[in-house]
Amino acid sequence: MATSTSSETEKKGLGRLKGKRCLVTAAAQGIGRTTVETFIREGASLVVAVDINAEKLEELRAFSVVDIRVLDVRDGVAIHKLAEELDALDVLFNCAGYVQAGNILETSEERWDYSFDVNVKSMFHFIKAFLPKMIAAGGGSIINMSSVASTIRGIEARCVYGTTKAAVIGLTKGVARDFVQKGIR
Ligand SMILES: NC(=O)c1ccc[n+]([C@@H]2O[C@H](COP(=O)([O-])OP(=O)(O)OC[C@H]3O[C@@H](n4cnc5c(N)ncnc54)[C@H](O)[C@@H]3O)[C@@H](O)[C@H]2O)c1
Repeated sequence: MATSTSSETEKKGLGRLKGKRCLVTAAAQGIGRTTVETFIREGASLVVAVDINAEKLEELRAFSVVDIRVLDVRDGVAIHKLAEELDALDVLFNCAGYVQAGNILETSEERWDYSFDVNVKSMFHFIKAFLPKMIAAGGGSIINMSSVASTIRGIEARCVYGTTKAAVIGLTKGVARDFVQKGIR
């Protein structure tokens, strides 16, 4: 599949994110990568692109507004360090997720914990780290990637994956309820 060039990506768009500072996890490929390109097209002034895949992240270096950060979203210390380095974000997109196949009998405790660390605890770290500056700046948007798996219907052989994605909904509603009056959407 062809990837858009930096000039093509910067040309189009309606300027809906003009001047906004954004961060996207799982930015190297898939939905995260497409989101980075969309945010650029919509006029974001900064897109912090986070992923564990250094090689694929490099492809984003062509975009002047992209700040590449190779980071494991399970690493809470690195996430808090990144938040200290950066000024307030307007948009935090927690996109990173891992699909573990199998029913409950086929899911080891190690795979259960890994799935929760990548899919849910990573969001706990990112929100905790970036929310204080977002509030201080007057507000912002946090997007947490869930799935139809478990939240709308049960999906075969996706037991722990679906469980983590249901947890993402709970986390999102909890944060929204606690901080909506401080401008957090
Ligand atoms: N693709 C779908 O159909 C679909 C449907 C519903 C929900 N989702 C969710 O959307 C999100 C993105 O899905 P996708 O299909 O685009 O993903 P993908 O598998 O194409 O890409 C995932 C990216 O995450 C990165 N990543 C994995 N583990 C990481 C870690 N520990 N630290 C940092 N980066 C890490 C990978 O390097 C990769 O670049 C996931 O949360 C997924 O559960 C996807």
